[in-house]
Amino acid sequence: MRNLNLFLGLIILFLYGGCQSDSRIKIIKMGHAQVVAHPVHNAMVFLAERLEEKSGGRIKVKVYPNQQLGTERELLELLQIGSLGMTKVSAASLEAFSPEISVFGLPFLFRDDEHISKVLYGEIGKEILLSCEKFWLRGLCFYDAGKRSFYSKNKPIETPADLAGLKIRVQESKMAINMIRGMGGSPTPVAYGELYTALQQGIVDAAENNPPSFYNSRHYEVCKYYSIDEHTAVPDVVLVSTKVWEDLTPEEQQWLQEAADESAVYQAELWKASVEESMREVEKAGVEISYPSKEPFLNQVQSVYELVKKEQPQLATLIERIQNTR
Ligand code: GCU
Repeated sequence: MRNLNLFLGLIILFLYGGCQSDSRIKIIKMGHAQVVAHPVHNAMVFLAERLEEKSGGRIKVKVYPNQQLGTERELLELLQIGSLGMTKVSAASLEAFSPEISVFGLPFLFRDDEHISKVLYGEIGKEILLSCEKFWLRGLCFYDAGKRSFYSKNKPIETPADLAGLKIRVQESKMAINMIRGMGGSPTPVAYGELYTALQQGIVDAAENNPPSFYNSRHYEVCKYYSIDEHTAVPDVVLVSTKVWEDLTPEEQQWLQEAADESAVYQAELWKASVEESMREVEKAGVEISYPSKEPFLNQVQSVYELVKKEQPQLATLIERIQNTR
């Protein structure tokens, strides 16, 4: 099914490219991997509506959800060559494109929600959004992606020792791989759109994500244990291909930036309610929710920080700036 969707999606792209325009209307295609019930999808639809309004109907964004046009990594590659106009991916998927953004994958980096907001919506956030430009990707805004915790099929993950011998699905991210190794599990990268089947077929025993993704992707149908250890807070990022961005007039660029910023405010409003609803619904569906102590997990991941500082010493200052943000 996914291959058929992907095939149809690629036909759309080959026929029309990243940004199609007749003399009056520009259509920007935006692909992403989430399901339509998810709050980030609704935020993208909102972005499209705001841009259409601001431009008096002259710029339209068509949103293709569900990994129809490819995995997050593939979508980023399509943006780089200008075959796709926009996307929304997890910052973890951008790691291979911007070393700076990889710091968001560090476990237990943030103290609390206020710390996350100050970093994402302050000076550091702006710098990081633009750090991808040299790779033909322009970050427009962050979307809140809450905090990620483990969910598993056969037993709850209460301490790092429970990860031993388990295949844990991770995003395509070196940071996530190192984190799971540090905690004692076996990391297995799987694309988000293939994860339901991978869990069902036992290719992996567990995964980790925020509540709206655990619920809306229906992974809770397979995983009956959700252990809220909140090991990372990896944001989502809305991006535009620099090839499409440069084709816009300064006025159009401003409309797009404003529409993205407004959609981030809207998404933040949707997020809180979505987390509450997701926790309620998965519990109703029989998922056992637990709140393990974070300390043992935190103690296991110091090696991840040491590795980053050793392999990418240029990131040490950025990590310190984030930690010192108050
Ligand atoms: C989050 C994120 C998605 C990402 C997913 C994943 O849900 O919002 O963009 O695909 O995590 O774990 O892959």
